Formats: sequence, C-alpha cells, structure tokens
Amino acid sequence: MTHLNWGLSGKTVIVTGATGAIGRAVAEGFAEAGCKVAVVDLDQSACDTTARALGIGHRGYGADLRQIGQLPALIQRIESDLGLATTLVNVAGIILRTPDLFTVTESDWDAQHDINLKALFFLTQAFAKRLAVTKTPGSVINYSSQGALSGGFGGSVVYNATKGAITTMTRGMARSWAPLNIRVNALAPGLVDTPMLQTPGQTDADRDAMIQQIPMQRLGLPEDHVGATVFLASDMARYMTGAMINVSGGFLMY
Ligand SMILES: NC(=O)c1ccc[n+]([C@@H]2O[C@H](COP(=O)([O-])OP(=O)(O)OC[C@H]3O[C@@H](n4cnc5c(N)ncnc54)[C@H](O)[C@@H]3O)[C@@H](O)[C@H]2O)c1
Repeated sequence: MTHLNWGLSGKTVIVTGATGAIGRAVAEGFAEAGCKVAVVDLDQSACDTTARALGIGHRGYGADLRQIGQLPALIQRIESDLGLATTLVNVAGIILRTPDLFTVTESDWDAQHDINLKALFFLTQAFAKRLAVTKTPGSVINYSSQGALSGGFGGSVVYNATKGAITTMTRGMARSWAPLNIRVNALAPGLVDTPMLQTPGQTDADRDAMIQQIPMQRLGLPEDHVGATVFLASDMARYMTGAMINVSGGFLMY
C-alpha cells in the first residue's frame, strides 16, 4: 500500500480571487501539482495574464462573483473548457475598515457580506451540485481568517463576522455533503503581508507591533498558504472534513 498519494494530477481546480496576492500563489501551487487551474477574479485580462503565467492548460475567467444568478453558468463554462472541477478554493474576499464600530454603514455591511459570504455560498452550491449530480468526490477549501475566532477589533469587526460565518458554514457544508464524499475545510491565515493588511497612515512601528504578536516573528507571505491549501485538496487529506487549519506563524492557536 502506498501512503503518500496526492491524487491531484490532471484534476480541474477553481481558484477564486486568483489574481490577488494569496490566490495567485495558491493557483501557482495547484499548477505545480499538475492540475488544470480555472483562474477566477474580477478582471478578465488579469485572469488571462495569470493563467498564461501558470503555463499551458489553465484558463482565466473574469467574473464578478456577486452576480449570483450567473454562477451556475460559470461552473458550466469551466467544465466545458477544462473538465469537471473537483476542487474549489474560495479565496476572493474584501475588507472595508472603518475608524470604529460606530461608523460602519449599511453599505459597508452589505459589500463585505455580498462577496465574502453570499457569493462564496452560492458558488460552492453550484460547484457541489455538479459533483452530486455526477456522483464525483470533491473538495472545497474556504478562506477564513484568524479573526473568525478572535472577532477582530473596531472597524474590522464586520469583516471578521463574515469570516466567522465562513468557518461555521464550512462545518455545516462538511456535515451535509460528507455522505457524497465532498469534503469542505477552511484555512485561516493570520497576518499576511498583502495590500489587505495595509491601512492608511500605517507606520513602521504599527507593523513592528503586529510582528511582535506573532510567535514566529514575521508576517505571513502569500506563498506560506500554498502547502496547506494543496494538502487539503489532495487525497492526503481524504479523511478530513469540517476542519480549519491555522496558517499564522503561531498567531492563532485554537
Ligand atoms: N491578507 C491578510 O492578512 C489576510 C488575513 C486573513 C485572511 N485573509 C483572506 O485571504 C483571502 C485573500 O486575501 P489577499 O490578502 O490575497 O487579498 P487580495 O485583495 O490580494 O485578493 C482578493 C482577491 O479577491 C478578488 N475579488 C474581490 N471581490 C471580488 C468579486 N466580487 N468577484 C471576484 N473576485 C473578487 C479581488 O479582485 C482580489 O484579487 C481573502 O479571503 C482574505 O479575507 C487575508
């Protein structure tokens, strides 16, 4: 019996937010693992550029995932082009920081929930439906955050609430679809050195203060998330569902 079988070669993987910092690194990881990657993000030409950079056999799909009614057609297009997708990695997300909780507006609330939570749910629903209909095993990896558990602070509380809901929903989806052999797991980055972490007026001292809270004494890098994501999608994680892996340099220890 062989134990170390990744089982990813030739599989079709959808990565959302795939022209962003972490999503792009994750897309590169799946391409390296021999997968065909559907690069999904807002801008078609950025998706095309990223897909081309991954090599032959990958494809870009410019899509605003908040267009819920279009999501089944997106899944269908990817299937026609690249074959039935068996892994979906939900990386796309936004944060809208406000000075404090008192200044959060309804539109701030809606904007973050629309992409971080609602789009994630309905894209995953459309993806999993195809697996169910074709009786194919598959896997979903949802990008949550350390803030799902800490709750965040001040102006980032609403963003973190969406991440908390993603973690909860991951467990519910995992339990619902386990009999279909569709595994659903989450990944929680800590503090990652991407534009999302930057705030207006942030100083070197602010950055040092963040680093001081991380036992491994550095911010995360996009590429730090590739290994855990590819692992969760692979046959190496075949008995894992409903889990959340912390990739945070020790910042998060739950
Ligand atoms: N950077 C961090 O410190 C950090 C920490 C914890 C969790 N995360 C999570 O990791 C993920 C990636 O973060 P990142 O730092 O790479 O951010 P990023 O801003 O570089 O990437 C996010 C991507 O999502 C895409 N996107 C946004 N709205 C979309 C829409 N409506 N339709 C399609 N695509 C859309 C953006 O275009 C962007 O490319 C996010 O879910 C984020 O919440 C990040």
